[in-house]
Amino acid sequence: MNPDDVKTVGVLGCGIMGSGIVEVLAKAGSDVIYLERDDARVERGQGAIEKSLQKAVTKGKLDESARDELRGRFKGTTNLDDLAGVDLVIEAVTEDLPTKVDLFSRLDELTKPEVILASNTSSLPLVQMATATKRPDKVIGMHFFNPPPVMKLLELVKALTTSDETVEFAKGFGEKLGKTTVLAKDRAGFIVNLLLTSYLNAAVKMYEEGFASKEDIDTAIKLGLGHPMGPLELLDLIGIDTMLSVGEVLYDEFKSQEFAPPPLARRMVQAGYLGRKTGKGFYDYGQ
Ligand code: 3HC
Repeated sequence: MNPDDVKTVGVLGCGIMGSGIVEVLAKAGSDVIYLERDDARVERGQGAIEKSLQKAVTKGKLDESARDELRGRFKGTTNLDDLAGVDLVIEAVTEDLPTKVDLFSRLDELTKPEVILASNTSSLPLVQMATATKRPDKVIGMHFFNPPPVMKLLELVKALTTSDETVEFAKGFGEKLGKTTVLAKDRAGFIVNLLLTSYLNAAVKMYEEGFASKEDIDTAIKLGLGHPMGPLELLDLIGIDTMLSVGEVLYDEFKSQEFAPPPLARRMVQAGYLGRKTGKGFYDYGQ
């Protein structure tokens, strides 16, 4: 498969990452069908894409006529069968391996045999998704960063079964999306999340221990290191639940204490304080 042959892309899941991926694809000229679990989630995804497009207009990154044209390029569905004709799939559902494995096996039955099946997983083993299909050479990780329309990186993950042709395709397709690609092997956390998780965990522990205030931790990193966000603000953006599951996967893989989610992160998830998406995390977002 050649990147230029991709006309329609199926995106599974239209949450924080899925909605951003739909936007990136539409902006690059693809037609997109996204799958969600129910009508309410289809609408919520549509709303998130609209909001981000509006932000791009406000920031002067997109003009209004381009925004209106983009709106015609994506549509949501709750029926997996509607993805039967797509030329590429990017899966971005919740980080739950059995759910992903089940979807890959159903996609394998449904889609054309030459179609590449990619996952946006942030840490789970690609090889388990690959071996749920009869095309393990055509399964690859395409890991976007939050917010996908803004972040320039696309981390590609080559499972033991992924072919070099599939990696070449993903590199070319990533470039068409305006992203810079890096290549990692199929090990929990890949490049970015392996480094990010211990840093974010250390920040939560520092706050939990009362060593410094959350504002001072964030200010120190922004002004001292030039990061656009401090670690606690970043956790609110990513979602505390997402980072908790990434930490658990990394801890399971390496059994190293630096990856073990701090108790406060677990308590916050249990309380529903997931960050921006629920209106409350380390900070309040007034929703
Ligand atoms: N569409 C297009 N462009 C947009 C946009 C949108 N919806 N929203 C913002 N932008 C552009 C702005 O125009 C601006 O561009 P410029 O630098 O050329 O002027 C740039 O993005 C930054 O915007 P702002 O400075 O106005 O700040 P915002 O509040 O709008 O953006 C942010 C915030 C982009 C999120 C920035 O704070 C940031 O980069 N934070 C760090 C994010 C990060 O680290 N993400 C990675 C998380 S890890 C991950 O995702 C992995 C996962 O597996 C856990």
